Amino acid sequence: MNVILAKTAGFCFGVKRAVDTVYRELAREDGGKIYTYGPIIHNEEVIRDIEQRGAVVLRTEDELDAVAGGTVIIRSHGVEKRICDKLKSKHISIVDATCPYVKKIHNIVRKESEKGNYIVIIGDPSHPEVQGIRGWAGENASVVRNAEEIEELSRNIENYFSKPENHSKIPEKKVCVVAQTTFNYNKFKDLVEIISEKSYDIIVLNTICNATKERQMEALRIAEKVDAMIVIGDKHSSNTQKLFEICAKACKDTYYIQTLDDLNLNQLGSVETVGITAGASTPNKIIEEVQIMSELSFEQMLDESFKTIHNGE
Ligand code: F3S
Repeated sequence: MNVILAKTAGFCFGVKRAVDTVYRELAREDGGKIYTYGPIIHNEEVIRDIEQRGAVVLRTEDELDAVAGGTVIIRSHGVEKRICDKLKSKHISIVDATCPYVKKIHNIVRKESEKGNYIVIIGDPSHPEVQGIRGWAGENASVVRNAEEIEELSRNIENYFSKPENHSKIPEKKVCVVAQTTFNYNKFKDLVEIISEKSYDIIVLNTICNATKERQMEALRIAEKVDAMIVIGDKHSSNTQKLFEICAKACKDTYYIQTLDDLNLNQLGSVETVGITAGASTPNKIIEEVQIMSELSFEQMLDESFKTIHNGE
């Protein structure tokens, strides 16, 4: 079996940086208790591993409120300003592993909002990254994820700019549009077009990260030319689910696995070429195991045919 491993499979830069930060902090001998605010990545294996090494994963703000010391690591999604302020006021040490691309959006919305401009975040309002961005934007901000929500957005913008107290104090009256880093580019473009028709003075900043798009495009290119495709990632990881959808459309023998244990090598027995890709939260170790086993299964097939030839069958 010929195995093609996607170069972009696995951790993106921001996730790798956050995971490395947790392991680095856990290795420090002088530090106290290590907490992560939210699971550092969507991968049960990694979470189990860091918990076994002593990290505590805080899953709610109430759990955070109960922390009295130690170090809290902020994951790559980032958090609301309010959370950082709360940690500072409790004198808890913060290690900020927010992805720099997300941090850049925090800075944009904070500055634009301070100028009095209205912030539009295009993204999923329930996603922690979007909630974090929203939390740096002040009150003059809205999140929209589809065209149906734009009418309400327009009402919010008009109400905000028409308030007598804002009228004189906001010189520019601009609308600043940013995007969740993993938002679909075409949908972003469509929504920006609808907002542009409203004749606001708008500043559009495409803050979509290329890592996701590049991974999806490479996965598609591979899926189109292989007999079977393996997509590795946690079952809760939305970017892995998306990868699976893309690959399954291009290659009917596409398998979604979380770890090597889920891989049924018999299913791959008769294929000649297999492609492998993985979501942004899949550790290299798992990808390598799957790659090695897929290659080994090919060698076993060769051995079997060698035995068959030797036995004269
Ligand atoms: Fe950062 Fe892009 Fe990954 S925003 S966390 S490098 S998907």
